[in-house]
Amino acid sequence: MATVDWTADANEALTLSLVRAEEDKQILGGEETYEEFHPTFTYPIYGEDEKIYGYQDLVIDLRFASGSLAQYLSVRHAKKLDASTTVDNVEGILKEFIPPDYDTDEAAFLTRVQEDAVSFKPIGDVVHTYTRLAPSTSGSGSATREEVEYEVYHATWNDPGFREYHRRMQIFILLYIEAGSYISEDDDAWHFFVLYEKRKRHNGTKTYHFIGYSSVYKFYCFPEKHRLRLSQFVILPPYQHQGHGSELYKTIYNYALLTPLISELTVEDPAEAFEDLRDRNDLRMLLDNENFMQEGFGNETVSHGGGKVQKRKTRARANPMGVSSGMVKVTGKMGPPIDKVWSESFRTQLKMAGRQWQRLMEMLILKHLN
Ligand code: ACO
Repeated sequence: MATVDWTADANEALTLSLVRAEEDKQILGGEETYEEFHPTFTYPIYGEDEKIYGYQDLVIDLRFASGSLAQYLSVRHAKKLDASTTVDNVEGILKEFIPPDYDTDEAAFLTRVQEDAVSFKPIGDVVHTYTRLAPSTSGSGSATREEVEYEVYHATWNDPGFREYHRRMQIFILLYIEAGSYISEDDDAWHFFVLYEKRKRHNGTKTYHFIGYSSVYKFYCFPEKHRLRLSQFVILPPYQHQGHGSELYKTIYNYALLTPLISELTVEDPAEAFEDLRDRNDLRMLLDNENFMQEGFGNETVSHGGGKVQKRKTRARANPMGVSSGMVKVTGKMGPPIDKVWSESFRTQLKMAGRQWQRLMEMLILKHLN
């Protein structure tokens, strides 16, 4: 007889959903699904090996109202070992990481979803908006696709209701960021940037749906400035690979750039995927900076594959992320060797951290000397 396995993989068992009101589901494109996705990590909750013992066909159904993030928790299983000290208390463990006001009654939760969909408004101030075409219904072209708005809100602990809201969203940090941990609510240096999808119902009502957020820390920096350290950053899986992470990152960078008292933006222990996102966006920002490109690479003509002669500036802007295919002679401040005083003056003006700036300079030189 086959032996029965009483061990469940916690990352598979934990099933997350962002639940929309029925009316909001009806206006979604066919490819849009926000329910039943899984965490990347559960070790901060269920232990190093991410296993749960004592159940068969275990499902930990943790749902969030898509905007207010009100929670519902249901733990289901086909079989459970007779109560003994070795069986994990699935709900009891997870309870420690979420606010106590979660629903366990499905009907009550769905009523809350309907109500919150209309009443919930993001907390804080809008600092960035952008639009995208909604993911298409199968077979439909862009002509029939709705334009969807997105908004980034800046909030601190001082915004009424934000502490409670943060207690609902912070679990995503444990579930998606390696070595992520909860932050102190007693520390006033934290700032938050929260990203929402804003959807219009047929009757014109606007509803908000949580996409992701970032926590940044304002360090005092002698004598009178602050350094902004981006500490936590998450875009939930149903929204990844659609450019939302880039928009959120650019919002934070622009906030640093436009706030006179902030001297630079640094990033705490970035994951590889985040480094990629940061490099791509920083490079694009530099390539779009006419002064930097002109002074850095000069205005001299360059020849490339087809023997056609172009101004370097035109060429760089026409193919910003591409590697040049022909011979390029750089006589501007980018050298090599790079003019250090000039480079440092642009770095401080653009509020870039030193190490990141060096990486960007190396990438630009490689691109242009190729
Ligand atoms: N269609 C298809 N692909 C697109 C589109 C689009 N419209 N727009 C962008 N992309 C691609 C980008 O080119 C990029 O491709 P690449 O991965 O091949 O380089 C990729 O999508 C990601 O770019 P974005 O969409 O801007 O970023 P995303 O919204 O997916 O967010 C992030 C990236 C933040 C890493 C997200 O995956 C995430 O939250 N992961 C889990 C948590 C995490 O690792 N957070 C960072 C920890 S580090 C820290 O907190 C400091």
